[in-house]
Formats: sequence, structure tokens, C-alpha cells
Amino acid sequence: MRRLLIAVSLIALAACGQSPAPSTTETPTATTTESAASAPAATTTEVDEEILEAVAELPAPYNQANYEAGRRVFAQCRSCHTIGRGEPNRVGPNLHGVFGREIGTAPGFNYSQAVQDANFTWDAEHLNNWLSNPQTFLPGNRMAFAGVHNETQRRDVIAYLMVESRPEH
Ligand code: HEC
Repeated sequence: MRRLLIAVSLIALAACGQSPAPSTTETPTATTTESAASAPAATTTEVDEEILEAVAELPAPYNQANYEAGRRVFAQCRSCHTIGRGEPNRVGPNLHGVFGREIGTAPGFNYSQAVQDANFTWDAEHLNNWLSNPQTFLPGNRMAFAGVHNETQRRDVIAYLMVESRPEH
């Protein structure tokens, strides 16, 4: 499986590296699907390929991230946050489309005074600082979470959030 993912990743990277001719990028996809041995395998491959392409298109260093590892890190957030478009706020606000969003503006969520008083737009750098240590970054906020102290895990979970928040998703 890992080897397959690497192969798919290389295809995705190769496809991205080519000049923007839609027919060139479509051909490998079609070939992969048709030549795949079984239908379930083909489905898995297509999903993985789409995600790997989305990761590869992220700005550095997030284009190097491990999406699967990021998904596992997000398990820590899931008890309080949803990520899907239109999903409800829980203990924390829904995080779909958090990038480019002004802090404290998820509709219908009752933020702490600290967050309401803060004034910036979420981008990877702010999120990286917030997740390093939420309480030092913004004292008085109500996110009861120690943070993600491992830099690689932060990179992976931020990339996961970016991919899950991409506009067409
Ligand atoms: C114990 C529950 C809990 C956990 C676990 C948690 N959060 Fe939160 N999060 C919150 C709460 C509550 C807020 C709102 C804070 C406030 O209003 O002060 C928040 C706010 C946020 C915000 C700001 C959103 C906005 O609309 O401005 C981001 C981004 C965020 N969390 C990301 C994460 C990520 C990523 C993780 C996992 C690595 C995580 N959180 C884990 C409860 C949690």
C-alpha cells in the first residue's frame, strides 16, 4: 500500500510538473483507472491521487506533509471540532475554510473575549503558532488543549486542514 501511494505520488508530481495542457494530465489518470486490476483498488487509488495532488499543490513546507499522519493528529481535535463544510460547531467552532478567515468568526459560535478581541486572519503561520501552544499564543482563550508540540505533526495537521478546506471540497 505504501509503495502504491509513493507511485501515485510520483504520478501526481509528474502531472503537476507538466505544462498546463489538460489532455496530458487526463491521460495518465484514465490509464491508471482502466488498467487497475479490481474496482475497489481503482476507487482507492483515485481518492488518494486527488488528495496527493492537493497536498503537492500546497505551499512549502506543507507540500511535503504526510496527509495520513495529519488526519491522525486531527483525531485529537475531532472531539471538539468538525472540519466538513456546513458541519456544526461543537465545543470548538467548525474549522472548514479556516484559512483566510478572520479569527473568531465561525457563524453561531460563542467565542471567548480573548478571541473576540484578537484581530488577524488565519494563515498557516498563525495556525502553527496557535497549535504550538494555544495559551501562550493567545492568553485567555478557551481552547482547553495543550497544543501539538511536534513540528512535523503540526505541519501534517495544518496540511490536512488545508486539503480538507480546499474550496471545491
Ligand atoms: C478540548 C476541546 C478542543 C480541542 C481538543 C481543540 N480545540 Fe480548537 N478550539 C476549541 C475552542 C473552545 C475554541 C474557541 C476558543 C475561544 O473562543 O477562546 C477553539 C478554537 C480553535 C481555532 C480558532 C478558530 C476560529 O474560528 O477563529 C482553531 C484554528 C482551532 N481551535 C484549531 C484546533 C486544532 C487544529 C486542534 C487539534 C490539533 C484543536 N483546535 C483542538 C476547543 C478545542
